[in-house]
Amino acid sequence: MSYRDVKRGLPQRESKVIAVINQKGGVGKSTSVINLSACLGENKKKVLVIDFDPQGNSTSGYGIEKDELEHDVYDVILDGFPIEDAIIETCEPNVFIVPATIQLATAEIELVSLEKRESVLKEAVNRVKDEFDYVLIDCPPSLGLLTINALIAANSLIIPIQCEYYALEGVAKLLESMEMVKRHKNPNLEIFGVLMTMYDSRTTLSKQVVDEVRRYFGKTMFKTIVPRNVKLSEAPSHGLPVIKYARVSKGSLAYMKLAKEVVTRG
Ligand SMILES: Nc1ncnc2c1ncn2[C@@H]1O[C@H](COP(=O)(O)OP(=O)(O)O)[C@@H](O)[C@H]1O
Ligand SMILES: [Mg+2]
Repeated sequence: MSYRDVKRGLPQRESKVIAVINQKGGVGKSTSVINLSACLGENKKKVLVIDFDPQGNSTSGYGIEKDELEHDVYDVILDGFPIEDAIIETCEPNVFIVPATIQLATAEIELVSLEKRESVLKEAVNRVKDEFDYVLIDCPPSLGLLTINALIAANSLIIPIQCEYYALEGVAKLLESMEMVKRHKNPNLEIFGVLMTMYDSRTTLSKQVVDEVRRYFGKTMFKTIVPRNVKLSEAPSHGLPVIKYARVSKGSLAYMKLAKEVVTRG
């Protein structure tokens, strides 16, 4: 069944377009996109994941074979291919994805010459967002044009922060980019939540980092804290979200709890 078949007859929904963003690599963006989307899907929310990182980790994390793809997000933003036809199903019945491949790596440069270089993603997302409860954008680890596109397409941001030394390093720069986009292009952009990831309860460092980030962000920080959990790092190599790979694991429980918190926050 294609996305076009599925969408017929759906009520129009007020959707949240959320960019999962942090220009630091390895902080848990893709892990959070995969597992939050899967848990929202289990909660009967209709979700569109947009993989916007050339590494394509949310695409492969959902077990999608990149070699077999006919179209990806590059075709949508640079070749004018209709996003409706680039959306494919995942193993979660309510979760769909616009996949990414390494093709996206050159987009950063190719976008420069386009007049709408900062808003191509927004235009694509606007065509389909009403069909979904949530659109989650997995951002690349940089503050380049792809990330600016995500900041302009989104209504709000989830910022994953890893519980380690220098956790807040770079966050000021990220907030600066957010403010710049707010001033010029997207005045209603807000932070949906700050998500602490890879928490290790055996170390005092993790606790200190959480306290420090809480002082900085206050209630914006999600109550749910994602523990360091080996099942979360193993699941992508099986092409499954953790709720399918290891349902009864600390990682799985954390993302289930996060999904509930996201739904409660609106
Ligand atoms: N809570 C966690 N516990 C254990 N490993 C994790 C956790 N979150 C992420 N990882 C692992 O850490 C690495 C970086 O995570 P990833 O989500 O790819 O970060 P990003 O998308 O920000 O670069 C991956 O190998 C991932 O499997
Ligand atoms: Mg990633």
